[in-house]
Amino acid sequence: MKSKYASLFETVTLRSGLQLKNKIVMAPMTNFSSNEDGTVTDAEIAYYARRSKGVSAVITACTYVTLNGKGFEGEFAADRDEMIPSLARLASAIKAEGAKAILQIFHGGRQVPPHLVDGDVVSASSVPAEAEGSPVPRELSATEVEEIVAAFGETTRRAVEAGFDGVEIHGANGYLIQQFFSPHSNRREDRWGQRLAFPLAVVDAVKQAAAKADRPFAVGYRFSPEEPETPGITMADTLELIDALKEKELDYLHVSLMEFWSEPRRGVDDTRTRLEIIKERAGDAVPVIGVGSIYTADDAVKALGTGVDLIAIGRGLIIEPDWVQKVESGQEESIAVKLDKEAQEQLVVPDPLWKAIIHTPGWFPGV
Ligand SMILES: Cc1cc2nc3c(=O)[nH]c(=O)nc-3n(C[C@H](O)[C@H](O)[C@H](O)COP(=O)(O)O)c2cc1C
Repeated sequence: MKSKYASLFETVTLRSGLQLKNKIVMAPMTNFSSNEDGTVTDAEIAYYARRSKGVSAVITACTYVTLNGKGFEGEFAADRDEMIPSLARLASAIKAEGAKAILQIFHGGRQVPPHLVDGDVVSASSVPAEAEGSPVPRELSATEVEEIVAAFGETTRRAVEAGFDGVEIHGANGYLIQQFFSPHSNRREDRWGQRLAFPLAVVDAVKQAAAKADRPFAVGYRFSPEEPETPGITMADTLELIDALKEKELDYLHVSLMEFWSEPRRGVDDTRTRLEIIKERAGDAVPVIGVGSIYTADDAVKALGTGVDLIAIGRGLIIEPDWVQKVESGQEESIAVKLDKEAQEQLVVPDPLWKAIIHTPGWFPGV
C-alpha cells in the first residue's frame, strides 16, 4: 500500500467494543432481490460475499421491522422469528469473508408502495409526501406507534440471535423515523408530536435489546441532514438531533448523502460542508461515518481529511468489489470507477438490482 493511503487502514474500536480492521465500510444498499416470503436469495448472498473481503463492515440493505413497513419489492424481512435462519445465513456469509455484519433496520412509513401493504400506508400524520401521486397515509394510533417502537427492539433481538455484529437504525431518506422527526410529516398533537420522541424511543428500544448480546454489538443511527420541503428538516434541526443522540452512547452516526462535499441548504450560517459541521457537533462523543460519491483512493483520503471517522462506499463497491484490496496492495490505479455494463456476472450483482441500475440513467457512473 502507498503510504498516503495508510490512514484508510487504521483500525477502529467502537464504543461497544466492536473492532473494525480499517476505515472503509460498505454503505447500505437495497437490492430488490429477496424471495417473496422475505428470506434472502442465493444471488443476494453471493453479492454480499463478493464484497465482504476488504471492507471492515458491511451494512446490509434495509430490512423491515413490521410488515406494514415493507418499502421495496424484493426486500428481505426481519419482522418475525421465522426469519432468523435467513438472517443468520446473511450474517455468516458476510462474516466468513472477514467483514463485520451490520443489519440496517427500517420502516418505510408513507413511502411504502401501497400494493405491498394492502393499501394501508401509515405515517406520523395524514400528510402525503410531495412527490406527485403519493398516497395519503393513515395516521398511526399511539398504540400502533408503541408497537412499532417495540418492533425495532424485537428486530434487534433477532439480529443478535442471527449472529450480526450490530444494527443500524435507518432514520434517513424520508422513511418513518425521519417522518416523525420532520415538521412536514409530523403534525401530531399527542406526545409523539414532539419530534424527537419517536427517534429516541426507537434508539432506547434497540439499545435495550442490544445490551442483551453476549458479545460486542454495535448500534448506529443513520439520518439525512436536510429536507428540501417547507416545512422540512433544516441543519439547525439536525444539530439538535445530534445533541440528543450524543446522550445515547451510540457506536456511530451515519450521515446519508449522495455527495460527500455537499453544503447546507438552510438553517446554519456556515460555509463549510454538511459533514464538517456535523462532525464538529458530534465531537468526540460519537464517531461519524461520511458517504457520497467516493470512487477513488484519493477521494477517500481527502474525505477522511475532514475529520470524519469512517468512510462508507456504496456504488463504488458495486462497480469495484475489490476496491479495498486494490488500495491495500498498491493497485489503486486499476480501481474501476465506471460500471462495466457487460460485467454483471463477473461483478456478482443479482438480476433485479442490475436491471434497476441499467434502467436508471445517471444513477451510476457509466450508465
Ligand atoms: C442501489 C442503492 C440502494 C440504496 N439503498 C439504501 C438503503 O437500503 N438504505 C440506506 O440507508 N441507503 C441506501 N442507499 C444510499 C446509499 O447508502 C448511499 O448513501 C448513497 O448511494 C451514496 O453513496 P455512494 O455514492 O457511495 O453510492 C442506496 C443507494 C443505492 C445506490
